[in-house]
Amino acid sequence: MVAAIFMNDSDNTEGFKLDLSRRPRRLRRTAALRSMVEETRVTVDDLIAPLFVIDGDGDKESVGSMPGVFRRNIVDLVAECRELHGLGVKAVALFPSIDPALKDAMGTEACNPDTLVLRAVRAIKEAVSELVVITDVALDPYTTHGHDGVLNKEGDYVLNDETVERLCAMSLLQAEAGVDIVAPSDMMDGRVGAIREVLDEEGYANTAIMAYSAKFASAYYGPFREAVGSASAAGTASLDKKTYQLNPANRREAIADALLDEEEGADFVMVKPAGPYLDIIRELRDATSVPVAAYQVSGEFAQIHAAAKMGWLDCKKSRDESLLAIKRAGADSILTYFAREVAEKLR
Ligand code: PBG
Repeated sequence: MVAAIFMNDSDNTEGFKLDLSRRPRRLRRTAALRSMVEETRVTVDDLIAPLFVIDGDGDKESVGSMPGVFRRNIVDLVAECRELHGLGVKAVALFPSIDPALKDAMGTEACNPDTLVLRAVRAIKEAVSELVVITDVALDPYTTHGHDGVLNKEGDYVLNDETVERLCAMSLLQAEAGVDIVAPSDMMDGRVGAIREVLDEEGYANTAIMAYSAKFASAYYGPFREAVGSASAAGTASLDKKTYQLNPANRREAIADALLDEEEGADFVMVKPAGPYLDIIRELRDATSVPVAAYQVSGEFAQIHAAAKMGWLDCKKSRDESLLAIKRAGADSILTYFAREVAEKLR
């Protein structure tokens, strides 16, 4: 016994000795000790799976820069939702990839009462009613220019209030279709309060709002824009959303904007991207009393996969560490394209 301790703990051998009252390594010595003092754990309850949906009955389509992520037709989407639910995942966030022929400058299709995403919601709710369904509220999947709102005459500025009016109509349609949570991702001013008012007036007081509150004008959305076709709609891979999304340099402004969303009635506030903005997640977690969601975006996912493909990173270990860091920073929910495989691992 004594010998074993000496073998495990070279600090007890003869020779140079530090006179230390605290040796933090004591609690790192064995796996059992380490797990006793582990402060953060990612669980299946933390995960929200973003899913892409396409119209028609074709085969699922892969997204080039996002290995293992697909655009699925409604039937396949429902099957995926059933499986996620079976794995214990509580929530999915839906994103439609719209036929370019249906896009226009105003994003008219967003307010079609039978648009793709609404049909998808109804089908999921019919098949797996307990699964929490979250839908995105923004015009970018529906506009030819790929912006989240409607443009002014000159075509160089996204109009705030006119856009909010449309977002309210979109939210109401989503609530009617049966979603649990609407998630405005557009970053217009005042949209959370306006959406809350419309939902309450129309009898949807229990439909929650997850506000993309601290959403930064980030380079990490590139693969997503490929997935929903908003960049190709715009004819550019670097669609500039700086007049509404936050400046990545600004911490104070991000917190202030998120607190406005809370005041306006947001049930969740979100930070996006997640990994490069852990300081924002922490600061917001300390500043608000509502749950904080964090979105590990497409570029964060693609980065890990790309490095793993080169043989430069261990995919699973970097995946787990990236999610742990987001949780440790203070996220209560994490939207991640790794949701399914992590749920499988945690089983
Ligand atoms: C837009 C929206 C974006 C994402 C979710 N909703 C991209 C954008 O602002 O262009 C990005 C998600 C991701 O990169 O995974 N409403």
